[in-house]
Formats: sequence, C-alpha cells, structure tokens
Amino acid sequence: MNLNNIEHADCLDYLRDIPDESVDVTFADPPFNLKKKYSSYWDNLDVAQYVDWCHQWLRELVRVTKPSGSIFIHNIPKWLSYYCQVLNEIADFRHWIAWEAMSTPLGKTLLPTHYGILFYAKDNSQLKFYDIRYPHHRCRKCNTLRKDYGGKKKLLHPFGPLISDVWTDLYRIKHNKRRDKHPCQLPIPLLERIILMSTDEGDVVLDPFMGTGTTAVAAKRLGRKYIGTDIDAEYVKIATGHADEVQSKSKIGNSWVSLYLDKVATLRDVDWDDIQQYFDIPDPRPEIDNKSIKYKDGKLKSIEESLYKVEEKNPPKKMSVTVYRGKQETREEIQIDA
Ligand SMILES: C[S@@+](CC[C@H](N)C(=O)[O-])C[C@H]1O[C@@H](n2cnc3c(N)ncnc32)[C@H](O)[C@@H]1O
Repeated sequence: MNLNNIEHADCLDYLRDIPDESVDVTFADPPFNLKKKYSSYWDNLDVAQYVDWCHQWLRELVRVTKPSGSIFIHNIPKWLSYYCQVLNEIADFRHWIAWEAMSTPLGKTLLPTHYGILFYAKDNSQLKFYDIRYPHHRCRKCNTLRKDYGGKKKLLHPFGPLISDVWTDLYRIKHNKRRDKHPCQLPIPLLERIILMSTDEGDVVLDPFMGTGTTAVAAKRLGRKYIGTDIDAEYVKIATGHADEVQSKSKIGNSWVSLYLDKVATLRDVDWDDIQQYFDIPDPRPEIDNKSIKYKDGKLKSIEESLYKVEEKNPPKKMSVTVYRGKQETREEIQIDA
C-alpha cells in the first residue's frame, strides 16, 4: 500500500487491491444518488443499481478493516437504511450518529435536517475506541450553559461533556471562499472528531470517495496516515494539493486535538490531564455554569492558521444552502448582505 497517497481510480478496482485487515479505519462519503453535479459521475442510478453498487464497496470496506478497526459511512437516512442490511451481517453495529444539517425551516413537516453517520466495529470485542469531549453549549447572550445540570454542577467537566450520538455543533461549509468547486465537501472538524475517536497517531485511514480530500487533510493534521481514491481526476488533484499543503501540527502540548475557528472542537477524554494546564479554568467548579475556560496564551488561532491557510482576500458575496422542494434536495446560491 502506498501510504499518504490519493489515487485516481474507481473505488471498487482500488479496494480489491487492498490486503485483508490492513487499514485501521475506513470512512466513506459516497455520492448520494441525488442528481448532484459531479464533474465525471452520473449521480442518478435507479434504486436497485445504486444499492447493489453500495453493497459491493461496503463489503470491501469491512474486509480491509483491521479487527480493532471501525467503519464509518456518511449519507442520508434513506440510503443508510439499505446499508444496515449488509453491514449487520458482516460487522457489529455501534451507533447511528445524527449530524444536524443546516437548512431553512420552511417547506414541509418532518423536513430532513440530519445526515446520518453509521458507525460499525469490525469486531466489537477488539474495537479501538476513545471517549471524546466537545465544548459546552452556551447561551450567546448570557454565556450560561444551555443544559441544566441542576444540583450536579460540581460534576461539570471544565472543557465540556462527552459527545452523544447527536452532533449539532459542527457545521457544513457555508462560505464559498472556504470550499472548493465540489458539490458536497465535508468540514474538516467532522472527520477529525471521527479520527480522534477511533485511531492513534500513525494509524491508517482509508476513504474511497476522497472528493476534495477532507479525510486526508484531517488525518494528516492529526498525525495519522491516509489512503484513498476518487474517480474524478480534478478532485484527486485538489485533494492531493490540500493534503500536501497541510501540516501535522494540531496539538496542544503532547495531545492531538481538533481545532476550528480558534477553539478546540474535539478532544479525547484521556488527554484532558495533559491539556488542562494550558487553560484558565474557573474555580470553584460550578462557576463553569456561566464562565468559559480560556486558552492561556491565546495562541490557538495561530496553531490553526499554521495548519491550513484560508484565502481571506476576497470576502464572499454568496453562500450555498440546502433547499428542499417536495422530495428534491438541491443546493442553491444565495446573496450575502454586506
Ligand atoms: C460526496 S463526495 C465526497 C466528498 C468528500 N467527502 C469531501 O469532503 O470532499 C463523493 C465523491 O465520490 C466520487 N466518486 C463517485 N463515484 C466513484 C467511484 N466509483 N469511485 C471513486 N470515487 C467515486 C465523486 O467524484 C465525489 O468526489
């Protein structure tokens, strides 16, 4: 296996050449079969064709994953329900993570507002898994915690709670200046959360639908290795460029963390003992209810900037949003007011 490399190939051809049980974690974000505009892929198969194709690469993903490894699949709930049929036979179900999708609350009852991320273990009894924490949700105006801890404020964790299976704190990429010419680029902190939860430094993460290389970038930022493919030569070029450019520096002290907009978006519970010395922590503990912890020397922003340069020269005039009309989901550009 050629590590830290993104190939231009069809995922099935590529996966068939990967040895059994050789990869620590697999993540897949396939085309959703929703008529999206990819450069070299027709995203409009009939249901049986699409599901059959997905079942083929799902079997391959489980085959190449190590016994201690995890398999994560991102898609809309409809297709995930078909994926469970095959995955339940060949792997161990762990969680259905609901990732809140940004959408305009107009249109219809039971508007789809979450993407699902299936989390399967290759073998539950051997699974490598780390508890992870995210920052407390606070009221924007008064900074008080949104969750009521009642009489248990003494038990508050200074950084934030262990993550549940509903993720509402990570957002899809809204601004065009932060995205490439790709219809469904995922945000880096989403992949970083998955990688922190399921791998150690040096582990190998495989993504058979690399797109713009989000998985590769997240893996490299966190000191992991990546491999993967995309059927589109242009996307392979973009993904390779990003992965080459990015640095393996997303650390506080000795611990890998996920950083987003000069905040820690995710850290591992086991690392808190090492990381806490870098924060000013309100004391006594119940004060955390209305006071945030702060990074001591204000350097988080510069760590993040050194990881990935964002082109700030041209402020965005438009952003793209998901619009639902009947059964049809489309992404449309809307004007941003100055
Ligand atoms: C939903 S996108 C992945 C986006 C990616 N997660 C990101 O953050 O940029 C799906 C990708 O799968 C690629 N693709 C479609 N069919 C493929 C195939 N048979 N083999 C490999 N890649 C394929 C498309 O070119 C597209 O880039």
